[in-house]
This record gives sequence, C-alpha cells and structure tokens, in this order.
Amino acid sequence: MSRSPVEDWTTDFDHTDPRWTADPYTLWSELRRTCPIAHTDRFQDGVWLPTRYADVRAIAYDTETFSSRRVVIRDRKIEPPHPAPPITSDPPDHKRLRLPLLPPFSLRSVAKLEPFTRAACEELVNALADGETCDGAQQYAQHVPVRVMCHLLGVPASDGERFRHWITEALQEGIHDMPRALRALQAINAYFREKVEACPGGTDDLIGYLLAVEPEGRKLDRDDIVAILRLLMIAGIDTTWSAIGSCLWHLATHVDDRRTLAAAFRDGDTRAVDTAIEELLRAYAPVAMAREVVRDTELGGCPMKAGSMVLLSFPAANRDPEVFPDPDVVRLDRAENPHVAFGLGIHRCLGSNLARMELRTALDVWLARIPEFELVPGEPVTWSEGTVRGPRRLPLRLLGGG
Ligand code: HEM
Repeated sequence: MSRSPVEDWTTDFDHTDPRWTADPYTLWSELRRTCPIAHTDRFQDGVWLPTRYADVRAIAYDTETFSSRRVVIRDRKIEPPHPAPPITSDPPDHKRLRLPLLPPFSLRSVAKLEPFTRAACEELVNALADGETCDGAQQYAQHVPVRVMCHLLGVPASDGERFRHWITEALQEGIHDMPRALRALQAINAYFREKVEACPGGTDDLIGYLLAVEPEGRKLDRDDIVAILRLLMIAGIDTTWSAIGSCLWHLATHVDDRRTLAAAFRDGDTRAVDTAIEELLRAYAPVAMAREVVRDTELGGCPMKAGSMVLLSFPAANRDPEVFPDPDVVRLDRAENPHVAFGLGIHRCLGSNLARMELRTALDVWLARIPEFELVPGEPVTWSEGTVRGPRRLPLRLLGGG
C-alpha cells in the first residue's frame, strides 16, 4: 500500500516514507529544532515521535504511563497471535519473564559462543574474499546472527534459511502486508512449538534451558516458552544483522575509520576497539520500539491521550546534540558516550552482550581478511523500512590487500 508523500513532518510524519528510509537523521535534526515531539494520524490510534534524548529517556522509565503491551506501530489494529514476553510485558509480570533469561545472555555465557561465532564469520568471509565484489548485507551481515541463533537454540544450521525468510516476511514485507506478517509469525510459533514438544529436556541449548529453568519454584508455561523463543529469534537476528551491515557501510565509505579500526584489531587494542564499536552503535542504532499511552499525560507541552501510541526512537535520541557534540559525526574515539542503542530501563536489551560480541567478531574477521573495500560505484545501497534500520543491499568492491 503506498501512502501520500509527507508534506509536514511535524504533524503528519511517516516512518515508512522513502525520505525517512533514505536519511532519517536530517529529518530528526530538523524536528528537534522546530517541533521536538512530532505527531501523525497516519497509523492506528495516532503516534507521537519524541526526538530528544531527555524525552525518550523519560518515557522509557515511566512504565506506568507508557505500556509495552503494544510495541509495534501498525496500519490498523491487529491482535498479535501471542504476546512476546518480556518485551510486551509490563510490571509486575515483566520481571518474572525477564529474570530467567539473564543467565544464557550473561558475559560469561556469551564468551563461550565467541569461538563458534568466529569460525562462522571466517567461513563466510573466506567464501567471499577472493571475489571482486559481494553484497555485504546479503552475503555476510545477515548470516552471522542467524548462524549464532541456530547454534544457541540447538537446531540445525540449515534451518537458518527459514529464519531469514520468516524475518524478512514479518519485519520487512509485512510492514505493508499484514496478513503476510501474521503468517510468518504463526509459522515461527508452529516451528518453536514443535521444537519444544520434541525436546527431551536436559539438553545443553536454549530450548532445553527454558524447559528446565524454574524461576519461582515452577517451570515456565510452554506457551510462554514458545513466545519467548519467537521474540529471541526476531529480536536477536534482524537487529544484529542491521548493525553489522551499517558498520560495513560506514567502513566502506570512511577510509580513515576503516584503517583506524583495522589497526586497533590488529594491535589487540581492545579499549580502542570497544570505544569504536560503541560509537558505531550510537550513530547507527538500528532499533526503535513503540509504547502505548495508558493514562492521559503531557510531555513537552504535548497532551498525550490514553490509547495513543509513541514511537520511542532510541536512534533519534542518540543524535541529540544536547548530549552528543557533533552528533552526526562518527568519532571512533568518542569518550563520553551514554548512547541508548540498547534501550533504557526495565526493557533494556537482554541480548546486548551477545550483540556486541557478534558485532566485534564480525568486523574483526572481515577486516583481517578484507581490509580494503568500497561501495560499488553506480550500484544502489538499499535500506530497510520502518523501525529497524540497516542496509538490505550493500554492493561492495573488494580491493585486495588481505
Ligand atoms: C545490535 C543488536 C541489537 C540492538 C540494537 C538491540 C536493541 C534493543 C532495544 C532498543 C531494546 C529495548 C526495547 C524496548 O525498550 O521496548 C531491546 C530489547 C530486547 N532485546 Fe535487543 N537488540 C539487539 C540484539 C539483541 C539480541 C542479539 C538479542 C537476543 C538474542 C536481543 C534480545 C532482546 C530482548 C529479549 C529484549 C527485551 C528485553 C525486555 O523486554 O526485558 N537483542 N533490544
């Protein structure tokens, strides 16, 4: 479905408009100056869009006014097939469903996944490095989190193709084709229900873990386990492949940064590497989420009625000049960097350790083997639409030197 082009971004914004997809940063910067909380009636129930860091922060922490029971902006009201705990849970239930998920995503657990991730990245890069060109999004970035997720879940790597297909249907094609998005979500549910039923228990993978864990002295409900697995697949794959793809895009278009980061990896300068990764996460934060206003309130002079929605743009907050000097400039050595790419408050990303490890490993392996690369002149880069931002086509010319 095509919508009319936006004429006034302050009262009628559209996060699926091609101008937003091409360059949201200029739009947010203009809004922050002229109307820091924009609005639109193009979507169900009307949506507010705060663009300042302070407002995004205030909303994320106020779970009594801003509920997570609806975290997706839709054209029309649909009931999801099942909630996706803990991301769609509010207090007090949220804690019960989040706490059992912490151990498998702790720094310690994630460190154990690093050798597998490295081997997977090496295999992917080796298949590309001798060519003249490749698509950095489709042939590399998209595969890294899919492989890690299959490994984590204990399912065959060959299932990864289905994961990629479902995620594309649910999150990209589904933006304008709701029945398609629902079909994909139902297919994911059916897949995990079968896996959960077939799991003998006591296995050393995430499904076995979720079946065994007893957070409050009793096992998790099987419907909750299926919903959690569906969330982890969606939250863990599309986000991370978008982040890896955006970083490759930046490095392809900024030769000095590419060489600086490659040198930091080569020298084992973990501090410089970590600082650079945080800056790339700040500048290219891929994820915005929604909230539902559940009691009348007012923010920045805007009267927000119960039932309306808010698009909580962590990426816009990360470009606020009040907090980040020269926010549109990537400074790989930015020291003060309280970015919110992983969100804030009780819903802060549960997979951030895993995401950081995947991003660091994917870039390290790529730069070691392909230190010099650029965009293919004349071939367009395309970006995803909607609330998760990353390149979907990223044609790269590999310049040798590895
Ligand atoms: C660069 C990659 C990633 C980014 C930028 C990212 C970003 C985010 C953000 C902004 C939130 C907060 C949502 C909200 O406030 O409503 C979130 C929540 C969450 N993320 Fe991530 N994420 C990434 C990777 C992952 C991975 C790899 C996993 C796990 C496999 C994951 C699992 C989750 C879960 C389960 C939540 C919900 C936590 C809760 O509600 O308590 N994410 N993520």
